[in-house]
Amino acid sequence: MSQKVRKILVTSALPYANGPIHIGHLVEYIQTDIWVRFQKMRGNQCIYVCADDAHGTPIMLRARQQGVEPEQLIDAMSIEHRADFAKFNVGFDNYHTTHSEENRFFANTIYRRNREKGHISMRTITQAYDPVEKMFLPDRFIKGECPKCGAKDQYGDNCEVCGASYSPSELINPVSSISGVTPEQRESEHHFFRLGDFETLLKQWTRGGHLQREVSNKLDEWFAAGLQEWDISRDAPYFGFEIPDHPGKYFYVWMDAPIGYMASFKNLCERTDGLEFDDFWRPDSDSELYHFIGKDIIYFHALFWPAMLHGADYRMPTAIFSHGFLTVDGLKMSKSRGTFITARSYLDHLNPEYLRYYFAAKLGSGVEDIDLNLEDFIARVNSDLVGKVVNIASRCAGFIRKRFDNMLADEISEPELLAHFSDAGAAIAELYETREFSRAVREIMMLADRANQYIDDRKPWVMAKEAGRDPELHAVCSMGLNLFRLLIGYLRPILPATAELAEAFLQVEPLTWDALSSPLTGHRIAEFKPLMTRAEQGQIDAMVADSKENLGVTQAVSKSNGRLAGDPINDNIEFPDFAKVDLRVVRIVRAEHVDGADKLLQLTLDLGGVTRNVFAGIKSAYAPEELEGRLTVMVANLAPRKMRFGISEGMVLAAGPGGKEIFLLAPDSGAEPGMRVK
Ligand code: MSP
Ligand code: ZN
Repeated sequence: MSQKVRKILVTSALPYANGPIHIGHLVEYIQTDIWVRFQKMRGNQCIYVCADDAHGTPIMLRARQQGVEPEQLIDAMSIEHRADFAKFNVGFDNYHTTHSEENRFFANTIYRRNREKGHISMRTITQAYDPVEKMFLPDRFIKGECPKCGAKDQYGDNCEVCGASYSPSELINPVSSISGVTPEQRESEHHFFRLGDFETLLKQWTRGGHLQREVSNKLDEWFAAGLQEWDISRDAPYFGFEIPDHPGKYFYVWMDAPIGYMASFKNLCERTDGLEFDDFWRPDSDSELYHFIGKDIIYFHALFWPAMLHGADYRMPTAIFSHGFLTVDGLKMSKSRGTFITARSYLDHLNPEYLRYYFAAKLGSGVEDIDLNLEDFIARVNSDLVGKVVNIASRCAGFIRKRFDNMLADEISEPELLAHFSDAGAAIAELYETREFSRAVREIMMLADRANQYIDDRKPWVMAKEAGRDPELHAVCSMGLNLFRLLIGYLRPILPATAELAEAFLQVEPLTWDALSSPLTGHRIAEFKPLMTRAEQGQIDAMVADSKENLGVTQAVSKSNGRLAGDPINDNIEFPDFAKVDLRVVRIVRAEHVDGADKLLQLTLDLGGVTRNVFAGIKSAYAPEELEGRLTVMVANLAPRKMRFGISEGMVLAAGPGGKEIFLLAPDSGAEPGMRVK
C-alpha cells in the first residue's frame, strides 16, 4: 500500500536567544517533533528546521550588561538551546540562527522585491530617545507615572495599578529604564510594510483552509479593525541587519525572524545532495509548508508573513498550526512557585519521555491552553507507560528467554486479535495527521488495556507451571510481544527513545508504519531490559525546589509574590492576573429565593445602567428583603457560568467564616453603581 511520497517542510517558532528553553516552549517543539516523526514513519519526506531568533534590542542590551559582544551571547545561547532540544529528542534536521548570511540574503531579497512593487513606504515618526545612551527607546524601556492614577514606576503603555492603557508619550515624568534620564522626543524616518496592499489576498487566504477555525475568526476581528502599515525598521544602535542602501537603519527583529525559516532550510540545502531550495519555496511548489507556533504570534505568521512572501514571489504556507499556552497546576508558570521550569532543571530530575507523553496526552488540534498538573503527570506516566505498555513486554519476555531461547513462535496463534491491533493503525494515523494526539493516545491505551487483558485471561504464569503446556505458553507470550510491538510502533512518534530501546530488545529495524502490519514470527529477540522506570514524587519535589532556588530572596520579596515562611496564602497570583479582575460597585436591586436551592439567592445587580443576574451562596446569612437596595462589590468580568437554576453572570464579594456570618461588602456612601473598585 504505497502512497505518493509527500514533500513536507515543517518549522517551529524560533526561540529568542536571550533566555533558556523552558517547559512552556517545549509544548511547541514536542508537538512539532511528534508530527514530524509521524510523517517520517509514514515514509514521507519531511524536513524539520528551526533556528535561534538572535536579533533585537533586548539581546543587544543583555550582551552589554554582561560585558560581551552580542555574537558571543548568541553563540553561547545557541549551544545551550541545541543541547536542551537534543536531550528532549526534538529531531531538527537543521538548527540555524537568524544572525546568518543566508538570513541576511533572504531578508534583503524579500525587502527589495517588496520595495520594487511599491509595498514599502517611508515616513517620519516621533519617538522617545535616550540622549545618554544615544538610542531610541522601545516602549518597554520607558517608565514613569501613570497618567490616570499617578502610580509610579509604570512601564510602557499600561498601568499595572489601575489597568489604564495609554501611549508611552502620556507617561508623567518619563525616564529611560536604561540610563534613568528623561527621554527626548526625536524624529526619525522609518520603513513601513504596506500590509493593506494585501487585504484581498489575505482575506481569501485566511479563509482558504490554511488556518484553524478559531484562528480565522480572530483574523476577521483584525480585518474589521483595519490592516495598519507595519513599521519594519529600527535606528542604530541595533543588533540586526542593516537595511540595504540605508546606513544606520536596521530591519526590526520580527521582519527577519520568520525569514529565518528559509535561511535554516537554505543552510541545510547547501549541505545536502538533492535537496533544492526552490522545490520548496517557488510559488507553484507542490511541496507542503507548515509552521507550528504559539497563539501569541499569530498576527506575524498569518498576516505579515504570507503577505511578505507573496510580495517577494515566494510561496505562501500550506497551513499554520497554533497551540495554546502551558499552565502548571492551573496557573501561569511562576518563578516564586517554582513552576517556571527550564528544560535544564527538568532534565536534572526526570526522563524527557515522560513530558513528551504527557503533552501528547493533552494536546489536540486547537488553540486551548494546556495544563501540566504535576500530580496527574506522575499518575498518568506510571499507570499508562510503565503499568500498561512496558508491562506487556516484561510479562512475556522472561518466559521467551527461559523456556524458548529467546525465539518467538513460528505462527501467530490469534490472528483476529492481531488484526484488530493492526487495523487500528489507520485511525491512529489519521489522528496523528490531524494533530489530535490526545485522541491517538487514548486509542493506543485502549489497545494496551486489551493486550493486558489478553495476558490476564491466558495466564502464562499458570501454563509455565503445568506440564505439557509449553506450546501454549510459547504462543501466548509470542502473541503478547507482537501486540507490544504494535503498541510501541504507534507510540514511536511520541516516545522515540523508548521505541529505540524496544527495537533493540525486539531486534528489529527502526519501525515504520508499513512494517507494523507484518508480524514477528520465528524471530530471535534480545534479552529484555526495563524500558522505563517509574516517576517518583520526590523527583518532582526536587525539580520544583531547584526552580525556586535561582530566585534571589530580595527579588521575591520586593515583587511581593514570593511565598514567605508562615504565609498562609500560598497560591499566589502574579500582578497582571489580579489586574484582570474587574471589580465594580453594584446595587442589589432585587434578591429572591431560588426554588430547590438551600444556599443560593438570586440577585439582580445594577452596575450603573446595566443589570446582571448572579446566584450567590449567602442565603444562610441574609433574607432577601435585607439586601434589596444595598451596595456591594462584584467581579464583573467573570465568564458567565451555567448553573442548575440559570446563568450566573458574575460573583459578589463577601467575607466571613460562613453560616450566619457572611458579610457582604457595602461601600461607604458616595459609591456609585458601576464605579471601579481597584
Ligand atoms: N522569537 C519569537 C518567534 C519568532 S518565529 C519567526 C518568539 N520566541 S519565544 O521564545 O518567545 O517563543 C517561541 C515559541 O514558544 C512561540 O511559538 C511561543 O508561543 C512558544 N511559547 C513560549 N512560551 C510558551 C508557553 N508558556 N506555552 C506554550 N508555548 C509557549 O516568540
Ligand atoms: Zn494607573
